[in-house]
Amino acid sequence: MSDENKEMVETVDVSPRLPEMSEAPGRDVFRQLLHQAVRVADMANAQAMRMALDFAKVYEREQGVRTQFEAQLKQMTLMEKQATRYAEDLAGMLRSERERRHELERALAQERIANEELRRTGLQGISHLVLAATIKDNTTGTHLQRVRRYVEAIAERMDLPAETVEEFGYSSVMHDVGKIHTPDHILQSEHQLSDAEFSVIKQHCIDGERMLGTARFFETARAIAREHHERWDGKGYPDGKKGEEISLAARIVSIADVFDALTSKRPYKEAWSAEAGLRAIEAGAGERFDPEIVAGFVALAREGVLEQISSEVGTSGDDEQLGSSAR
Ligand SMILES: [Fe+2]
Repeated sequence: MSDENKEMVETVDVSPRLPEMSEAPGRDVFRQLLHQAVRVADMANAQAMRMALDFAKVYEREQGVRTQFEAQLKQMTLMEKQATRYAEDLAGMLRSERERRHELERALAQERIANEELRRTGLQGISHLVLAATIKDNTTGTHLQRVRRYVEAIAERMDLPAETVEEFGYSSVMHDVGKIHTPDHILQSEHQLSDAEFSVIKQHCIDGERMLGTARFFETARAIAREHHERWDGKGYPDGKKGEEISLAARIVSIADVFDALTSKRPYKEAWSAEAGLRAIEAGAGERFDPEIVAGFVALAREGVLEQISSEVGTSGDDEQLGSSAR
């Protein structure tokens, strides 16, 4: 029973203003009824209190859930906004990336055209240079054609990239351009050269490199011009370079050049047979020539590739322009 209800009962119970009532016969009934009423009211009150408390708890819990839900909703809205912004940023980036790529592709296409023109100009330059050198040197266009084809076949057999094979090929025909500066009487001498004359001959490597300027297009050609008389054992000229100090292109060209010189007829000698020429090359492996390249060259000979090149170039005529095969 709550304090308030107790107070009510006691107030009724000891009322001094109703003395006659306490003696009345209905007094006990009244008191019982009053007690009952108070008890019922008390229970109802307690029930109401419990319900109110329960309701308050539920309400509180629901408020909590709502607040949480609202917070989550707010966060989700924020995240959604952020995601939208990210998506927009990403789309913008992709757009500009696409534009940049298109620009790059356009630039690359233009560069390709410019490179192709440069290449054509370069090849034309080669053709003129080589023509001048062959006239001066009394060699033939077919010698250079064969050297070029041998060089390309060796490079291909070594699995070098196609562009490198091509570059080695067109660069090889310029190996002797420096001979333009060599005096005729030395170049065409059929006698044994004196030391002084030989040092003049050696100069064609240095002159050749210088004549080929500084353009990237002639980088390999410059190396070949300078190094095609170097030897694997370091006893060559003009610098006495040894082994892999000599560029790969020059190591290849020296084999092709010597083989073709041996197997061609010259004013001072008959043409050697392919077998004799090949034996001479094999004998020079590890001394004059890079032994690995010699092995590849011998394999090409066994496969009939050298013979095929020789017969193909032989039928194409001595005066064929080099530029025509410079694809
Ligand atoms: Fe040479």
